[in-house]
Amino acid sequence: MSTDQSQAARSPQDIAKEAAGRHAASYVTDGMRVGLGTGSTVHWTIVELGDRALNIVCTSTSVQTQELASSLGLNVISPDEIGALDIAIDGADEVDPAFNLTKGGGAAHTREKIVAAMSPRFIIVVDESKLVPALGPFGTPLEVLDFAPGVVASAVEALGASAVTTRDRRSDNGNLVMDAQFGSIADPVALGDALANTPGIVEHGIFPSSMVERVVIAGLDGVRELVNDLR
Ligand code: 5RP
Repeated sequence: MSTDQSQAARSPQDIAKEAAGRHAASYVTDGMRVGLGTGSTVHWTIVELGDRALNIVCTSTSVQTQELASSLGLNVISPDEIGALDIAIDGADEVDPAFNLTKGGGAAHTREKIVAAMSPRFIIVVDESKLVPALGPFGTPLEVLDFAPGVVASAVEALGASAVTTRDRRSDNGNLVMDAQFGSIADPVALGDALANTPGIVEHGIFPSSMVERVVIAGLDGVRELVNDLR
């Protein structure tokens, strides 16, 4: 994605994504260790951090983000080198009213979950279209070992999925990425636990609300925030 796209060529959703992404960068201050998510919304957080030229150290959740951040002059080191984070910022594919998330549309959810878990503060950036009454319509991304994908898919169907499909593209970790259709998910935390207990699934794309500090949302009327007070 170009950072110099003309406003005329961009959709209202793209403009909202930029507003949410740039706004979230205001939570980053000098000296912080920052986890950088993946996707077209947090793209703009990374661009804003590059513009502000802060004295920060970052770690990345994908090759794509690593390349973007490095190209903008940000100091990006591995999760092991950085050790712990002050803040992590990322996008989401779905956000439910209780702050549970679906992630993994960009096949980066395993690294995204590792990086989010390294930080006491996890801030989500989305446009309004990502807010849903219940997780599920997007599908649930799964990173799966390429050993027995049919066995894993059957196990996921036994948990209630009506269909499990495999993407053409692998994750940055070299694993398969599948999408499971569960319909409207009544209990995302319980389903996440069941998926985590399924052998062969490296990581699933349900992020529980306990991980999420706040959601920065941009729409046609500007930017607003929802804060997870129950965390
Ligand atoms: C990548 C992700 C992304 O954060 C999610 O897909 C949202 O992306 P975008 O901001 O482009 O809509 O989970 O694995």
